[in-house]
Amino acid sequence: MRVETVHDDPVDADAIEVDPITAEAMTAGDPAAQPAQPAETARPAEPERHARHGLIRTFHPRRGRASTTQADALTRLWSVYGYTIADPHHTYHTPEVAPDGPFDRERLFGRRAPLVLEIGCGMGEATAEMAAADPERDYLGADVHTPGLGNLIALAEARGLTNVRVARGDVLFLLRDGVEPGSLAAVHVFFPDPWPKAKHHKRRIIQPDTVALIRDRLAPGGVLHCATDWAEYAEQMLEVLEADTGLRNRYPGGSGYAPRDAVGRPVTGYERRGVRDGRPIADLVFEKIGD
Ligand SMILES: C[S@@+](CC[C@H](N)C(=O)[O-])C[C@H]1O[C@@H](n2cnc3c(N)ncnc32)[C@H](O)[C@@H]1O
Repeated sequence: MRVETVHDDPVDADAIEVDPITAEAMTAGDPAAQPAQPAETARPAEPERHARHGLIRTFHPRRGRASTTQADALTRLWSVYGYTIADPHHTYHTPEVAPDGPFDRERLFGRRAPLVLEIGCGMGEATAEMAAADPERDYLGADVHTPGLGNLIALAEARGLTNVRVARGDVLFLLRDGVEPGSLAAVHVFFPDPWPKAKHHKRRIIQPDTVALIRDRLAPGGVLHCATDWAEYAEQMLEVLEADTGLRNRYPGGSGYAPRDAVGRPVTGYERRGVRDGRPIADLVFEKIGD
């Protein structure tokens, strides 16, 4: 099944391939059942492929089958909801797709409203929930994992959300090349891949250069909200965010972490699993200092 879209970006549902573990979890509709660190696929490792373009790869390339609902949402509604990020390495998409043209948020959303970007939205549960509660702002969920984007599109359609869109691909390229400086109301980074091995820490998305990029794209007063269930990553996040002189901690007292009940963040599958496994949840809320 192949459908043409206004972005000239066909989504071929039949070619969305299977990773048995992820497929089982996704088909069951239980994101918490997904592996925390999805196995590297048979695709040859290309560990530094982004380094040539000044950006490190922060995600696990993986294949996951879309459920019927997700595949249906992708094929039927991609032209309305979807944007494919231009980056030099879009071969991790299954199927491979041509990137769209320059990022045009007004065209994508059909209006100009404050924009919240969620980096690594996964199944989109938090994106949909927050967008539903906040109709005056637009929410862009970005991920490389197409079935999750299909899930978010299906959620948005089911709930009649007109302020939700999805971006497929490496969000660092979108931030660097597509998003104007000072133009984002907020950036959410909820339960990013923890990359627990020391040799992989460089792949963590929260580190000085990516935080500087995110801060630059935030409007003055704009918020960077991060959450993790990985204690040692939480400490690193706090250290990196505190060290960025263009950011201010909204919850500077005590530990520096934000109280869970103050942040208005819906629970996602990854948080549920962290709690189930006895890991503490840390939220960090920083804002860009005004000019
Ligand atoms: C551990 S999951 C968390 C998903 C979701 N935020 C939640 O809480 O359930 C992290 C997600 O970030 C995505 N990701 C990591 N780096 C990314 C990047 N550079 N661009 C787009 N997505 C990325 C991964 O594909 C994955 O879906």
